[in-house]
Amino acid sequence: MKIVSIIGARPQFIKAAAVSRLLRKQHTEILVHTGQHYDANMSAIFFDELGIPKPEVNLKIGSGRHGAQTGAMLAHIEEILLKEKPDWVLIYGDTNSTLAGALAAAKLHIPVAHVEAGLRSFNRKMPEEVNRVLADHVSTLLLCSSQTAVDNLAVEGITQGVHLIGDVMLDAQNYAVKQAAKRSNILAKLALKPGKFMLATVHRAENTDDEVRLRGILSAFEAVKAPVVLPIHPRTRKMIEVFNLKSKIQNLKLIEPVGYLDMVMLEKSARMILTDSGGIQKEAYWLGVPCITLRDETEWPETVETGWNVIVSADEARIVEAVRGFARPEAHPALYGDGMAGRRCVALLG
Ligand code: UD1
Ligand code: UDP
Repeated sequence: MKIVSIIGARPQFIKAAAVSRLLRKQHTEILVHTGQHYDANMSAIFFDELGIPKPEVNLKIGSGRHGAQTGAMLAHIEEILLKEKPDWVLIYGDTNSTLAGALAAAKLHIPVAHVEAGLRSFNRKMPEEVNRVLADHVSTLLLCSSQTAVDNLAVEGITQGVHLIGDVMLDAQNYAVKQAAKRSNILAKLALKPGKFMLATVHRAENTDDEVRLRGILSAFEAVKAPVVLPIHPRTRKMIEVFNLKSKIQNLKLIEPVGYLDMVMLEKSARMILTDSGGIQKEAYWLGVPCITLRDETEWPETVETGWNVIVSADEARIVEAVRGFARPEAHPALYGDGMAGRRCVALLG
């Protein structure tokens, strides 16, 4: 089979790391990087560290408003698909790169395989929710991480081509944990002791582009009685400037975005993780690290039901209370598969 895979943003590089190498043992892959993320520490570092094949094509679309960015990707991906005539287009997650890949393929009647299908926040104000709903509705193969995702699709009338394969990010994490033990020196570099710091990430549009929410989150980080390490997403750095919130970050350990091996080391060693990331909620769970989620909802309700994740919105008092009051659950059932999702994905492509 000939497969065109579309990636473009940080979490997609990590997901592709669990699939591309396996895929190339059986199929021909043309890896297309849209260029949605382009800074070295948002893109190149993941290819270098995780042995992801070098993309055959980099569209270098870069940043932009949703319509302009997605539209530019759509036009370029269409050209590639017309030339390559693949059997499948493989897309990951819920970014604008995902949607562009899905639409370009569907209009050319090329079957789409969607990794991380069926997730829902039920909040249509999130760009990611729009992207994932649309992508799912034009996909032929819907590869789900959880039974919840399978059930969400059924509610929308999608039952054909739906497979519960587990989560490819677990495959990636299993690999990275071993590599990080050998190759990451981030704890020494930042003079951090395991269990003695909090790890935080913030990048969701609903938090970064809303002054009240961003202020609430940063104020909570200030109020938490432990060092807070914040690898800062470029979007967040920009908005801290725009809202003049620089005084709020003076006591944090602010660092540039890190590669995945350093990230896994930080996650594993943190006392707690505070985040609005989708992927990091799962990663915290797999590593047995409590997670405080700085959002109003989650696509990963199982992490909340098991007691390892608390949803607290962006309110300072709620965040601080959740950190202080967190009670570590005794049980830690396996969630989101067995670390073999990549293999199942490749097998299902034929
Ligand atoms: C995107 C995804 C989001 C995902 C996140 C992963 C969409 C709509 N959003 O959000 O679902 O969780 O990636 O990190 O697709 N920027 C840089 N350098 C870069 C990349 C971005 O400076 O390499 C800055 C630019 O100012 C840009 C802003 O970050 O405008 C936002 O980037 P964009 O890719 O549009 O969205 P993310 O917030 O990264
Ligand atoms: N990540 C990373 N370095 C960082 C921040 C995040 O390697 O500085 C990893 C993180 O561990 C996870 C992925 O990037 O695997 C999640 O990306 P992000 O939070 O940007 O996106 P989301 O999952 O919310 O779409």
